[in-house]
This record gives sequence, structure tokens and C-alpha cells, in this order.
Amino acid sequence: MSEQTIDTMLLEERRYPPPPEFAAQANAQPDIYDRDFDEFWETEARERVTWFEPFTKLYEWEPPYAKWYLGGKLNVSYNCVDRHVEAGRGDKVAFHWEGEPEDDRREITYADLQREVARFANALKELGVRKGTPVAIYMGMVPELPVAMLACTRLGAPHTVVFGGFSADSLSGRMVDMQCEVLITQDEAWRRGSTVPLKQTADDAMADAPNVKTCVVLRRTGGDVPMQDGRDHWWHDVVEGAADECPPEPMDSEDLLFLMYTSGTTAKPKGVVHTTGGYLAGVAATHYHIFDLKRDTDVYWCAADIGWITGHSYIVYGPLCNGATSVIYEGTPDYPDKDRWWEIIERYGVTILYTAPTAIRSHMKWGPEYAERHDLSSLRLLGSVGEPINPEAWVWYRDHIGGDRTPVVDTWWQTETGMILITPLPGVTTLKPGSATKPFPTVAAAVFSESGEEVGPGGGGYLVLKRPWPAMLRGIFGDDARYRETYWSKYPDVYFAGDGARIDEDGDFWLLGRVDDVMNVSGHRISTIEVESALVDHKEVAEAAVCSRKDSTTGEAIVAYVTLKGGAEGSVEKLEELRNHVARKIGPIAKPANIVFTPELPKTRSGKIMRRLLRDVAEHRTLGDTTTLADPTVVEEIKTRAESDRSED
Ligand code: PRX
Repeated sequence: MSEQTIDTMLLEERRYPPPPEFAAQANAQPDIYDRDFDEFWETEARERVTWFEPFTKLYEWEPPYAKWYLGGKLNVSYNCVDRHVEAGRGDKVAFHWEGEPEDDRREITYADLQREVARFANALKELGVRKGTPVAIYMGMVPELPVAMLACTRLGAPHTVVFGGFSADSLSGRMVDMQCEVLITQDEAWRRGSTVPLKQTADDAMADAPNVKTCVVLRRTGGDVPMQDGRDHWWHDVVEGAADECPPEPMDSEDLLFLMYTSGTTAKPKGVVHTTGGYLAGVAATHYHIFDLKRDTDVYWCAADIGWITGHSYIVYGPLCNGATSVIYEGTPDYPDKDRWWEIIERYGVTILYTAPTAIRSHMKWGPEYAERHDLSSLRLLGSVGEPINPEAWVWYRDHIGGDRTPVVDTWWQTETGMILITPLPGVTTLKPGSATKPFPTVAAAVFSESGEEVGPGGGGYLVLKRPWPAMLRGIFGDDARYRETYWSKYPDVYFAGDGARIDEDGDFWLLGRVDDVMNVSGHRISTIEVESALVDHKEVAEAAVCSRKDSTTGEAIVAYVTLKGGAEGSVEKLEELRNHVARKIGPIAKPANIVFTPELPKTRSGKIMRRLLRDVAEHRTLGDTTTLADPTVVEEIKTRAESDRSED
């Protein structure tokens, strides 16, 4: 929440009203904001979801727990797959899948998807998976990943998808927390022309997660991987001979659908709980209105990874529930060259693109010439998610990718919210670069002061949500106290999002980033404490403090201050070793960009590390107040060391 961000916003006077042709055909029209809360969510749930048994009550709110669509019975895979086939759209493409190696492509229709999901669900059943069996999924961006997720939902088995870039420790921690009995993975994944050893990492993780008794392995690259007798099974073997039909299990609205682990301010990631009915209605409704989805003509591409909440809600569940045609791309944007995304857009005639500011900034850095090589005129709408988007990046995105023509929807939400909550509606909202604009219809977002007063237009403070919404988290798995403490203790019965925000004179929201010790690197939340714990895990590290500094590509970059045991001095080799250690413990995304070795860390008299000062050092600012430090000379020493590191660069 730096003052600079606020200054930039105040200067931001560019306005982009919806183009009249877009507005005329838009799914969401201005009167959507007049709709009544109950009417809206009852109608949306009936229109976008097929229920085996209708719900009898819209919602129940016993703070801090909500229930939605009480009494309703449904099945997510039936909604995402079968009913589209039954309606005669079996030949419609669900996914244009593009592998990273060139010419490796597949077209998966809804009928194909139905067959694959049913066969894999039958295979899982054969391996003992039942309603309620917790399943972990650790895969790359292959079509079998959504197939595996949908097969779980077909049987009523809750899943947790762990991003393929996470380490063995991260995977085992999640599998132990959820008590997973089954793990679905693949031999290796492709990444920038080389392979990532997923099965090998999964083996290390399973060694620490004895609850996992069965592992299914998809052959993707064909690399050699050891298979453990009795535990490991090849995907192609288990689906061989499996029947094409598998009845979808009727689930209660409030049955657990999945857990998604996210960083918090303590080292242990939180298992965010999402249930069935409210989640599906919430993601389908927002996907339809915000992305203006025209089922029969749009080609939609959310370029996130399915391993994050964005991929769950807006690659898999929302778009499939709406019967969309989507693109899934396996690899990185710069392989084999920096125009790969634009080539994909041209090839499939993508009309809607949804990505993150960090990706947009990378493309900006590479230059517009890569986009210029391709015909991007099919695009009619762009979206952004994951962190505040700088106005310059927003305008670049609209100009160079959107042809100075398309609306850009900057969508604010979180793993916990499950669905987009603050966003423009592309046919209605006048856009301001850098602002997520207005709460989605019925969403009661507000900005509160420290003392809990609602601030009006022109004011800043903490973002809160005053009323429940269908896809909201139903708690933290196995930790009621932490759920209450994290989200509901700052203000009574009001959800505390942990983000700073301002509301301008027009009532538009400007998000200002996290207010806790959570960093946002490339749109992913990483807590300082997790990285510190990973560093301290190294045998030579005595103490570590981590903070972030601004970075033009990744939004924030991680800076670590490390004290070695026995007063040892650091070295370039040690620095590399520690960076790699963090990558092994958490994943490459959490690797510190810099490490400063220091004999002491700045601490308050009560022993709290003053990260604020470390941030000042990392961002080359004059130091803030140092009077509460136990030993003020420490921070000067660190500053000198950080400066000398820089001059050696
Ligand atoms: O700080 C906000 C930022 O990302 C956080 C949520 O991260 P995560 O749970 O990993 O989910 C990311 C994808 C939904 C938020 O608390 N954030 C997300 N979208 C925006 C944003 N900050 C500003 N503007 C956004 N559009």
C-alpha cells in the first residue's frame, strides 16, 4: 500500500466506455445491477446448473459459515459434460489442447470428454475410490488433468490438485493434511523443451505420506520411471477395458468438492474448502456474465495453470458448466519463441483471453513485435487476474493484444472466494486502467477503516465482504480456529480479505495489494514465513528473514536476509545453494531473487524481525523509523552489505 500506488491512481484519468456494438450484444446489461440478491442467485442456479433434486432453501448464514442451495442434489461432472452431450452438442469441442512440443495437438469434444471421464472414473472405482475418498492430483497441463478432476467429481471423491511446480515436501504436506489415499500423476511434464520429473517428485512425496496407497501414472513424455509393484499403475493400463458409462453420484450441495491449499502467514498452507452447489453456480454465473460467453461461437482461453484456483474455476468448472469451447496450452509462452501465445490465438481463433499481469509484463518486456507477427483480430475481450495491474500494462494489453478495441476486465478474487467478486462487466462498465471497478451484482464489497467504519468514496482501508456469496470458502480444512482468526476476527461477521483498497469518487475499487506478510510473486501468494522456514531448514542457516521488493516482471520479487551458523560468511556458491534449497522445499517459484548474508537481523526488543526495514533496504529507500530496534546498528550493517552486493552485480 505504498503512497506511490495511490499517486499513480489519482493521475489515471483514461476512461474506456464499452464499445456500443459490444454493449448491444452483451450477456450482462445495466439492469443486472438492479436484480435482487435472492432472485439473482436462485435464477442463476436454475439456469446454469442442472439439479437432480431442486434446492429448497437459497442459503443459510451462521457466521462465519454459510451453506448454499440447501437440499439440492447435483453432480459436477454431469453438469460439465453429460448434459451437453444429451443436448446434442457431443461434437462440440470442449478443449483445443496444444502440447508444448510443436505439432502435438488434440481436439477433445464433449462426447470424447464424457467417454474419457467415465472410463477413468470406472478405473478409479476399480482401484477402490468411492464417494468421499480424498484424491491428490499432481500433473502438468495435459487433457487428462481435467479428466482426472471430473472423474473424481463423478464419484463424489474430493480432490486436491497440487501445482506441478511444487516440491515433494509441498506435495506430501498437502497429501498428509487431506489424508489422501490416491495420487494421480504423470511420468514427466514438458517445460521449455526439457522435462520435469513429476513421478520422481511424487515418489519422494509418497515416502512421507504413507496414507497414499495407490498411484496412477499417466505416460506423457515416455521417460523412464520406476513403478512400485502393488502401488503404482499406468493410466493406460487401468482404463483399458473400462466401461464407457459410469453413473454420476448424486451429491449434496454442501458436499466437499475440493481443497485448494494456499499460503497464509504461518508456514503451513491452508486447505481452503470448496463445496459443490454454490461453487458451481458461482463460477458458472460469473464466467457467463463477466466473460460474456457466447457458447456457440466463442473460443475462450484462460492461460493460467489448472493447479491454481484460477484454473479450477475458469478453465475447468465454470467454462465446462457453460458448455464453452476452450484452449489448454501445456507449455511456456516463450517456447520455442516468444510469439507462442499469439500463434495459438491465431490458430484457434481465440475470442476471449484471460491471463495475469505478470504474463502481460513479460510480453511487454519482449516487445510488441511478437504479437504483430500474428492475426489477433478474433479477440473481442481480455481479462486480467492475480494482482493489481499497472495502468501501463493494462493499456499495453488493450492496445497491442486487443487491437485498441477490446474491453479489458480486471477481475479481483481469491482462492477463498472461489469466484470473481469485483470486476467490470464488459458491456456495461466504463473501464479505468488499474481499477477492478465495481462489485459483481449482489456482492457486498466495502472498504473499512482500521476501527471498522465503512469508508465512502475517496477513502482507503481494508477490503471486506459484508454478505456471503455462493462460492465462498466453507472454512479451512480441519482448522476452525484458524479460519475464524484469519478472516473473521478483525471485524465481527464481516469477511476480511487481507487486501488494501481504495474507493474513488465514482465508487470504483482500486486494489492495493496484501496487507499481511504474504508476497505476491507472478500472481501467486507466497508467505514470507514459508520461505524463511525453507531457508532455516538448510543445515548451515541460523536465521532468515524474507521480504519482497517491487519487480517489473513478477510484480514482487523475493529478497532474503540470511545469517549463517557460527558466524560464517556467505559466498556466491552458498547463495546458489540456498536458492536451490528453497526451490526443492517449496518450488522454483519461491526462489529468492537476492540473498543478502548478514551477521544479525534487525529485531524489535520483543524479538520480532522488522521486515518493513528490510523492505526499505531492498527497495533502496531511506530507512523508516528504527527507534524500536533492539540494536539500530544492525540495519546499517545490512544496508552496507546489500549495497556492496549490488555494486558487485
Ligand atoms: O491480493 C489479491 C490478489 O491476489 C490475492 C489472491 O491470491 P490467490 O488466492 O492466489 O488467487 C489468485 C487468483 C484469484 C488477492 O488477495 N489479486 C487477485 N486478483 C487481483 C488481485 N489484486 C488486485 N487486482 C486483482 N484483479
